[in-house]
Amino acid sequence: MAKCTIDGKEVEFTPGENLIKVAKRAGVDIPVFCYHPGLTVVAQCRMCYVEVEKMPKLQTACSTNAAEGMVVKTTSEAVKKGREGTMEFLLLNHPLDCPICDKAGECDLQDNSFGSGSAYMRHSEERRTYVDVDMGDVIQKNMNRCIHCTRCIRFGDEIAGIHEMVAIKRGNNIDITTIDGKQLQTEYAGNYSDICPTGSLTLKDFRFKKRAWMLKKTDTVCEGCSKGCNMEIQHEGNAIYRCVPRENLEINKYWMCDEGRFNYHYTQDPARILNPVQKVGAAWSKITWDQGLSALKSETNAVNTLFLLGTDLTLEEMSAIRETVTRNHKNAKLLSFGTHGVETSAQDKSQDQILKMKSKTSNLMGAEKLGIEALQGKAKADVVVVFRGGRAQLPAIESKKTIGVGVFLEKEVTSFDVILPGLAFTEKDGTVINHQGKEQRLKRAVLPREKCKAIPEVLMLLLNQKTREVLA
Ligand code: SF4
Ligand code: SF4
Ligand code: FES
Repeated sequence: MAKCTIDGKEVEFTPGENLIKVAKRAGVDIPVFCYHPGLTVVAQCRMCYVEVEKMPKLQTACSTNAAEGMVVKTTSEAVKKGREGTMEFLLLNHPLDCPICDKAGECDLQDNSFGSGSAYMRHSEERRTYVDVDMGDVIQKNMNRCIHCTRCIRFGDEIAGIHEMVAIKRGNNIDITTIDGKQLQTEYAGNYSDICPTGSLTLKDFRFKKRAWMLKKTDTVCEGCSKGCNMEIQHEGNAIYRCVPRENLEINKYWMCDEGRFNYHYTQDPARILNPVQKVGAAWSKITWDQGLSALKSETNAVNTLFLLGTDLTLEEMSAIRETVTRNHKNAKLLSFGTHGVETSAQDKSQDQILKMKSKTSNLMGAEKLGIEALQGKAKADVVVVFRGGRAQLPAIESKKTIGVGVFLEKEVTSFDVILPGLAFTEKDGTVINHQGKEQRLKRAVLPREKCKAIPEVLMLLLNQKTREVLA
């Protein structure tokens, strides 16, 4: 394998790899702004300067590929001076906004200024200023903080497949904007905020809600569709503040869609049912878990019972339900439901040739692997019991009694009789299988809310009257 030397360490590389990637393997971090591994290389910020033996000038590591025998220095005096010059230039117009900027604490400009900037500045002119611009539902722009790295422009063109961000005017008057000042159109706009190395493109949903360093992070998987994008839930005090994509080159690379990013909101919706309830007239009335379980037990003794299982549940939940139904309700039927019009994985296709899939649940493939057939059309039975994670689209139901176990909002269950509240995907561990057949783990980020219980626990309590008595 070819080898080069970085800061005295010999490193192997694959031809075509740039110095940033190769240096990383040698444990050397080269500061960058315009470079992003998921976008084309433009080498325009000049932050990644390195010294390469036998080359007279400093080189940009993002646009220089490693070569056999190459000797690279990343900490020499010349490199230090070059990077200081870049930082001084980039900060000419940057406001002292860190105390009120959402990016503070996770900002490349802060980090690179601290790591490679100079303590002095020769600049004495007035800084240019722009007014904030509302770019649509997702992004608010603060052009004062922009360093013209063009990551956002390249993201639109190369990943979101839409040429909507451009640079107009030049030099000190440059403006990074949408064409004709239109609102952003892409359904992947949240990524603009992730890749902006400064606080220029901020996520409206997160603005001024929490300082980045206060957030705890949990690695999990998005439940928004069968793609299974890897993501991180950021939370504090049992409340979720933000979801961001996690790198997985085989699934979502570095990105996620807005539908998945903001999907978590329903788990914190004030209209989510968090206590066992039963319908009295047209209103919901709180009941105890024991009363709810007794209702579930007596109703499911009916001869004609249909159990429905959402394809938004984990494999563990699905197996527990299948086990309970096959052992204890021999005459009952068990069918799955998830997305109207996408009952089987054969009908599940890419929705937009980017990430989004047609199946709007995370585990359609899991239900199929467990041999659970899909409901076709209306759910018809004397008693229908619906197990649901919170995302599966409810089918039309025709029954004398309908009982829900899992996550439901009040407006979704006007025709139900009893609800036993369960855990959302943010509150449980489990396994899901994406449309490629890859098994992935959901991880619990926040604790269950109020009286919500995990489905396996509900099933265990249902079967075990004695345990219920002890717990009561
Ligand atoms: S808005 Fe952000 S991503 Fe776009 S050019 Fe400016 S600094 Fe770069
Ligand atoms: S494409 Fe699907 S899995 Fe990925 S972020 Fe969007 S909804 Fe979630
Ligand atoms: S990161 Fe290399 S020039 Fe911008």
